[in-house]
Order: sequence, then structure tokens, then C-alpha cells
Amino acid sequence: MKEDKWWKSAVIYQIYPRSFADSNQDGIGDLQGIISKLDYLEKLGIDAVWLSPVCRSPQDDNGYDISDYQDIDPVFGTLKDMEELIREAGKHNIRIIMDLVLNHSSDEHHWFQEAKKSRENPYHDYYVWRDGTEGVPPNDMRAAFGGSAWEWVPELQQYYFHQFSVKQPDLNWENPKLRQEIYDMINWWTDKGVGGFRLDVIDQIAKEPDKGITNNGPRLHEYLRELSKETFQKADLVTVGEAWGATTELARLYSSPDNSELSMVFQFEHICLDQIEGKEKWDLAPLPFLKLKEVFARWQRELHGKGWNSLFWNNHDLPRIVSRWGNDGKYRIESAKMLAVLLHGMQGTPYIYQGEELGMTNAAYEIDEYRDIETLNLYQEHMEKGFKKEDIMNSIHAKSRDNARTPMQWNDEENAGFTKGEPWIKVNPNYKKINAAQQVEDENSVFNCYKELIRLRRKYSVLIEGDFRLLLAEDENIFAYIREDESAQLLVVCNFYNKTVECPLEESAKDMELLICNYKDVEQAAILRPYEARMYLQEK
Ligand code: GLC
Ligand code: CA
Repeated sequence: MKEDKWWKSAVIYQIYPRSFADSNQDGIGDLQGIISKLDYLEKLGIDAVWLSPVCRSPQDDNGYDISDYQDIDPVFGTLKDMEELIREAGKHNIRIIMDLVLNHSSDEHHWFQEAKKSRENPYHDYYVWRDGTEGVPPNDMRAAFGGSAWEWVPELQQYYFHQFSVKQPDLNWENPKLRQEIYDMINWWTDKGVGGFRLDVIDQIAKEPDKGITNNGPRLHEYLRELSKETFQKADLVTVGEAWGATTELARLYSSPDNSELSMVFQFEHICLDQIEGKEKWDLAPLPFLKLKEVFARWQRELHGKGWNSLFWNNHDLPRIVSRWGNDGKYRIESAKMLAVLLHGMQGTPYIYQGEELGMTNAAYEIDEYRDIETLNLYQEHMEKGFKKEDIMNSIHAKSRDNARTPMQWNDEENAGFTKGEPWIKVNPNYKKINAAQQVEDENSVFNCYKELIRLRRKYSVLIEGDFRLLLAEDENIFAYIREDESAQLLVVCNFYNKTVECPLEESAKDMELLICNYKDVEQAAILRPYEARMYLQEK
């Protein structure tokens, strides 16, 4: 294969440590829990694990509020456990990718503790402060988790800026000393042998609150190039930035093949399609299917040879894809596999979020069973504004981040085998039916479909290098495309809906080899059953 960057042919698995596996029965997943599941991950065949944050944190936002970047939070274990995880994962040929939260720290970080002591304190300028009077914030910017983005500190007679919770003060990237401390910290982790980094809300670091700018600030790419030069370029790392505001044009800059910024970004254009345009994620709209195809095709086409895509349906902030755009009832298995085939046939680095490989579903809980700060704030805010409880709960059931955060379903024993203690968040009651133990053994399971897709990616260069051509752009039910390089042509055909449709691609597929299909076999080439998905290959 001509590609020399390991992460171009890699499949990455995301672990949300709190919810993965609990080794000491305190109800919270931890690093030793992850170590105990490395065999499972190796069996699936993934190359790297992205860990959501495990650094020391008061856990106001489940670890996305870091109070010490160079220590592990005691709920997850110790620095020694982390070193052991890196080492043990290495023995399974799995690299560990850490989550870097660089836009903000916790208010309990010693930098912030110092910063709020006085305006003259050397750490004061590590954060974003504005003068003002109590009750009259500098402007009306809102925080992502509700309320004003400005918090008053009476001792200083100043406001600090926070794009997320009040316990997540924004860091001031304009300060070169702060930037240097960040680089030193990253290099310290790199020396410990991590395989890369995921960069939390990285497009927000260059905010300019006086101009109302949150993401894509004017100095963003200058900062990224400096960051990359001082850290990532010194080692063979994968880096992926979370960038809600990325366009294909910006993504080419971020992921330019000259390696000056990052390996790739997570962009969310496809993911935002089922909300009312210009509104919040809670304002639900039906998925515009033709638009979904157009968006994917555009990203595939415009980054080919000029940048690199990440491919994902899920993460710890998103509802479960099988409940969202698949079918979590009768066709759960077929639709989960269809969504997998559709995504894993494209160009880019696929990410699998824990439980996705089992077709885990959303959970519809009562409000007091939710734990996520965003969900709880939304509920309160909307109740105060007089929304109907039923409508709020519908939005929460569809979009709450806790849909992704229910414990991993390992087996059909107590608490799905996640813990013998009291789980920090309720286990989805469907674990007796949906669990890893059952699926590893069942050759027709969602798990084994993912495993096979990973194997195919290793075997056929066309999956990595091939260009992309959308077929049947106007078809209301079928998502089909061709990938092609000098070695082969690949055809992916997916029926996206719960109905039987005619397949106009029968002729094209006639002489091709069927690589994978989500039913036991293809009954009639010209008919696609509900959610039927096929991947064909013709070598040249
Ligand atoms: C990112 C994370 C999310 C977190 C937020 C603030 O969007 O994925 O979980 O709450 O940043 O750090
Ligand atoms: Ca634990």
C-alpha cells in the first residue's frame, strides 16, 4: 500500500471510560476495567482506542473539566494504571489516544485558583477576563450548557468567559506562556508512549468574545500550526480535532497532507441534518435523506487527495445511530449493519463508539435517571420557560448525550456485567437481549459484521485509497456509491429504509464478488429487503 501514515488504514474505537468496565465495583468504569477488555478489542480488530478524558477532574462535565493535565483522576485509577494500559494495549497492537481539552480547564485547576487571586497574578492572563459591573455582563453571549457565558468574580470585579459550564473557564490562547505550558504537557504524554490525541472543541480556542466570535477565530490556524510544530510533528501520532464549524475548505487546511496542523477533524455536517435549521439540537426534524447523500458525497469528493476524513455516526455526545437513523425495533440488527457497511465503505478513518458494534440503542429514562449536565440544564431551562414536559422528554429521549453513556452491555448478568456495584447511570434494560457475550459467538451478529468490515479494510487498498462516486443521487431510498483505485472497483448499495425496494444496480453488480451483506445471503439481486446492504468488489 502506498500510504505510509498508519492512521489512514486504521480503525479507531472510542471508549467512554466511566461507562466501559468497572474493575473495583464502585459503579464507575476505570482504567483497569479497560485493561481487562483488551482481548475483546483485539478480537474486534481495531488499531487504536480514543479514551475520553481520564485526567484529574471534579467531573462537572464527566472529565471535560480538567484540574490536572498530568495526573489521572482517582475514579479512573492512577498514573501507573495509565502507563500499564499503554503498555498492555501495545501488546495487543492497540495504540492509546488521549483526549486533550485545551479550550478550557476546570475552575479547580491551580492556574485558575491562582488567576482569580488578583489581576496581577502571573496566571491571571491564562484566562479570559473582562471588567464590568455585577449583573451587567460584557455582552449577551450564551454558554453551550445554558446561561450566560460570563461569570462574575466579586474579588476581582471582573467577569471570566466560559463557553461551557461555569466550572469550565476558557483558556486564553493569546498568552504565549500558557501555550508553552500546554506544549510541555503534550510532549510529556507523548514521551509516555501515547499514540495520538483527540482535541476537544479545538475550533473554539481562538475565540474573540468582544466580537462575539466562538469558533474559527482569526488566529485559529496560526495556533494550530504552532501547536503541531511544537508537539505532534515530533512523533508519529494521529491527531483529530473536534470542529463543529468545519467546512470542506477548512477541513483541507486542518488535515492538509503537509502535516502542518492535524491528521483529520471530526465535522458534524451530516450529524446536524435532523434538527430544524438554525435551531438547537433539541428541535427535531426528519432526516432529509437526499441531503445526507449530498453531504457525504461532497466531503468524500472534496477531501480526496487534499485532506483526510474521519468517519463516524456516534460518539459520547450523540444519540445511538441505530435508534436515530436506523430501526431499533424489528430491524435493529439489519439496520445497525447497514449503517456500518455504508460508513465503512467510504474513504477516511472510521471511528466506532463503544457499543455501536453491538447495535446498542438509545435509552428512554425518567428525568431523575439522567446524569448529563447538558440534559439536566436543558430540562430546567425549558421547564422554566413553560415548555410541555412531554415535549422536553421527547427531545431528551431522542438527543440526550446520556443515550451514549449508559453502561457497556457485556453480558446478561447483573448490570450487564459492567459492575457489581451501583452503576453511576442506569443500565439500558435491553441488555439481556443486546450484549457482547452473545454477539461474539453469533456469526450473524452486529459485532461480527464490524469485525469483518475491519478485516476487509486491511485487505483491500481500494477501501483506503479509492475515490468516491455517488450513484442514484435522486433515489429516495437507496444510498449507493462506487470506490475505485488502480487495483479494484468497489460498489456499496444500501437500502436506508424499512421497506422492500427495487435495486436498479443489478447489472453493475453482475460480475462482481459479494464481499459482505447484512442478511444471510442475497436472495434476489434485483430486490433490496428492508435495510439491506451489500458491498461488492471487482479486482482489476
Ligand atoms: C466537547 C465534548 C463534550 C464536552 C464539551 C466541552 O464537545 O465532546 O463532551 O462537554 O466539548 O468540553
Ligand atoms: Ca471503578
